[in-house]
Amino acid sequence: MSLTTVDFDRGRVALAYSGDLDTTACIPYLKEHMGCSYVLAVAVDLGQGDELEPLRLKALASGADEAIVIDARHKLILDYGLPALQANAVYNGKYPLSSALARPVITDVVLQAAKDHHCGSVAHGSTGKGNDQIRFDLGIKLLDLDMQILAPAREWSFTRPETVDYIQSHGIHAHVSADKPWGVDLNLLGRNIEAGPIEDLDWVPTEEVWALTADPTTVDHEPDDITVDFHDGVPTGLDGVPLHPVDIFGHLNHVAGRHGIGRLDVIEDRIMGMKSRELYEAPAVTVLLTAHHELEQLALPRDVTSCKAQVDHLLAQYIYDGLWHSPLREHLSAFVKETQAGLNGSITLRLSRGTVTAIRRSSSVSLYNHKLVTYGAGCTFPTGASEGFIEITALAGREWRRARNEIAGPAKTPAIPASENPREPAAAASALGA
Ligand code: ARG
Repeated sequence: MSLTTVDFDRGRVALAYSGDLDTTACIPYLKEHMGCSYVLAVAVDLGQGDELEPLRLKALASGADEAIVIDARHKLILDYGLPALQANAVYNGKYPLSSALARPVITDVVLQAAKDHHCGSVAHGSTGKGNDQIRFDLGIKLLDLDMQILAPAREWSFTRPETVDYIQSHGIHAHVSADKPWGVDLNLLGRNIEAGPIEDLDWVPTEEVWALTADPTTVDHEPDDITVDFHDGVPTGLDGVPLHPVDIFGHLNHVAGRHGIGRLDVIEDRIMGMKSRELYEAPAVTVLLTAHHELEQLALPRDVTSCKAQVDHLLAQYIYDGLWHSPLREHLSAFVKETQAGLNGSITLRLSRGTVTAIRRSSSVSLYNHKLVTYGAGCTFPTGASEGFIEITALAGREWRRARNEIAGPAKTPAIPASENPREPAAAASALGA
């Protein structure tokens, strides 16, 4: 029996299409300058909130041979957002990786579309300077050993106005917003705003840059208390009402956004070494990260939280660096997943004026034992054992001190003349100017 072989044609390309200037310019460019005969535009719905059908039509109007929209919101949250949440993943101590997590999702979807449409190439519109090109390329290379990668924006040397001219010369309408000269990347996990005036470190962001969050300094409504219910370290409901995780993210973006929660203005260490200034809004993730971490603090043993914090840190770095599909990332995630089994409980948070604070905690596997910790009556902690614990803990260090002291010989305390010794009443009096 002979196997059917599908002829993957490198001239057939699946393009990750966002509808922005660069990915739009990629469509004619791939055909004119990169030898492509067929361009499939793949628009991925990650909860941007935009209607994606107009985007699909725009791709066709820009010369794509076919254009499809794939809804990947569930994939983003279930396969990427939740494992990252379980790892308390933040980069540079603050950034909850909202854009970084979206790139491997787009990669998965576009690779699958490429295979379904017999394409031997995959293209993206990322430039040669940013993080996204690294994430797309690494994802494709780590998942598919044969796929060719085309990155037109890494090859052309267009300035932004030249990109507009190039698009317009092909009869394509180029929408350029003069009043909002920054770039935005939005999905259910959060919103990134970069470039334009944000590059000036003295520029204070004006309210127009923000879209998901109210100004925390002017919020005048009452705080909201909200309870997040977890099962196996996954948020499964709010205030006792079971909800799908995708809906939890959607709902919390709205509720926490009203309180101005999750706004960030940070200096970020880009993968290739430069520092950049980035603004983020991630209301839901900020709330969920707080709740999840609180639950871990309640229910995981001290050595596990300590070791896990190191794994979490490394995992966040790998996600940022575009190594989601690497072996180590998979192994680290397996460790994290193992720690989450049975991690059930509810954390109540108070949302108020840009802050989120845990105010109540409960878990069926809570390690909090009031009898052990209380300073009140009925304490069961074996206080008498403490001295022995301290004695043994100090033992190795005391042996080290003894050995050093023996080499040094008896301690020599230099004699201080009585007149300079502040402990002598005469010196103390003269030091006070008496
Ligand atoms: N600096 C962030 C990151 O590397 C955001 C990147 C957003 N991408 C974009 N094309 N605007 O994760």
